[in-house]
Amino acid sequence: MDKFIIRGGNPLQGTIRVSGAKNSALPCMAAAILTEDEIILENIPDVRDIETERKLLASMGAEVDLGYGRAHHRTRIRCASLSDPVARYEIVKTMRASSLVLGPLLARTGMARVAMPGGCAIGGRPIDLHIKGLQAMGAEITQDHGYLEARAQRLKGARIVFDKITVTGTEDLLMAATLAEGETLMENCAREPEVSDLAALLVAMGAKIEGAGTSTIRIHGVERLHGARHRIYPDRIEAGTFLVAGAISGGDLTVAGCNPAHLSALICKLDEAGARCEIAADSIRVRCGGSLRAADISTEEYPGFPTDMQAQYMALATQADGVSQITENIFENRFMHVQELARMGANIRVDGRTATVRGKTPLSSAAVMASDLRASASLVLAALVADGETIVDRVYHIDRGYERIEEKLRGVGAQIRRIGNVFPQKQAVEPITA
Ligand code: EPZ
Repeated sequence: MDKFIIRGGNPLQGTIRVSGAKNSALPCMAAAILTEDEIILENIPDVRDIETERKLLASMGAEVDLGYGRAHHRTRIRCASLSDPVARYEIVKTMRASSLVLGPLLARTGMARVAMPGGCAIGGRPIDLHIKGLQAMGAEITQDHGYLEARAQRLKGARIVFDKITVTGTEDLLMAATLAEGETLMENCAREPEVSDLAALLVAMGAKIEGAGTSTIRIHGVERLHGARHRIYPDRIEAGTFLVAGAISGGDLTVAGCNPAHLSALICKLDEAGARCEIAADSIRVRCGGSLRAADISTEEYPGFPTDMQAQYMALATQADGVSQITENIFENRFMHVQELARMGANIRVDGRTATVRGKTPLSSAAVMASDLRASASLVLAALVADGETIVDRVYHIDRGYERIEEKLRGVGAQIRRIGNVFPQKQAVEPITA
């Protein structure tokens, strides 16, 4: 298993470029199921979850060519014949977003057999709202041996009000509704930019959708959808992670190729904490010469403070003077990074859904373990400012959603390198050359 070796202390300087959004690319790849024509997606991130989705689609009979333009981050997908509309547990257990194929498979083929995703490090991750919505559209859904089996002659438009705001639930049902008979009205929808990104692709494929990006989405079903070419939005969470990297290291960092409008909550919070952000059309420059101030956050659905930035912000809060209250409202177990940060010297106390961070505490290097995608990012950020060399283990978690993060960070002055297959006796690490 690969590890990162990171020597702290270098302020990050220069320009770091953002890749395409993993959480847009995954539903957009699933949308290719809705047509037998070719779909071309631009700005696809070269991350592990995309490879997992490729395997999933290919296992069902789709032709997926990530290599079609790897240098240009382009992929070509054609689901002309879906010979085996089954999402197997071996794949689904590694990526719960596989449930995104449920709605499209049902809409396109009339049946779907999808392994129940199961939980993950951050929570139970149920998909009951996906199921409830599809049943409202006429699907017959049974569960056995850990699989969901869904059948529908043709889905029918329905009125759906989500009990809770769910991003992939909104996306799954949005895709299903595009081929349903009649009109579907969905309320209490997720407003994340990735929903709007998916809707833009679906409209380019011939879908009739109004209101994507708002709480109420109206879809008029059509008989079939056709091929399209679509460019994926930039990854707002990767961009936010890099902004925190610039702030925590006391640097002067420009995050390029992002959409600042997708990052308002984080930008305001960084300004409140004393890290100045200068906004341009498709970049944000963060400078943090002086000390940081404590500031509270409470994670909310978009456009509130994103849960996917909570762990990264917590690393920053350890370097802020004062007490920061961090409340996680979206997932029930998203404080896995706390123990690891504490092992580096952070002063954090968890009480239910709130973590109280007392800063500023000097962080010292340690051997730490990544547990999930964003917790891993938090440990890398802490290591950028820790005294000495930190070893971050199990970096496959970070590779799921960040494209060669160590190369990008090294390009702006971080002392970070990846080592693989290190045996215990070889643990001794040579000093990092900058
Ligand atoms: C998406 O997950 C993202 N993943 C997550 O990003 C992100 O953290 C999350 O939205 C919240 O923004 C992708 O887009 C692939 P939810 P999703 O359904 O859709 C409950 C990352 O780090 N819920 O919006 O699975 C659920 O338990 C990942 O990139 C139900 O109860 O999240 C949670 O408490 C992690 N029943 C809340 O809703 C359901 O049927 C929000 O979950 C569905 C969800």
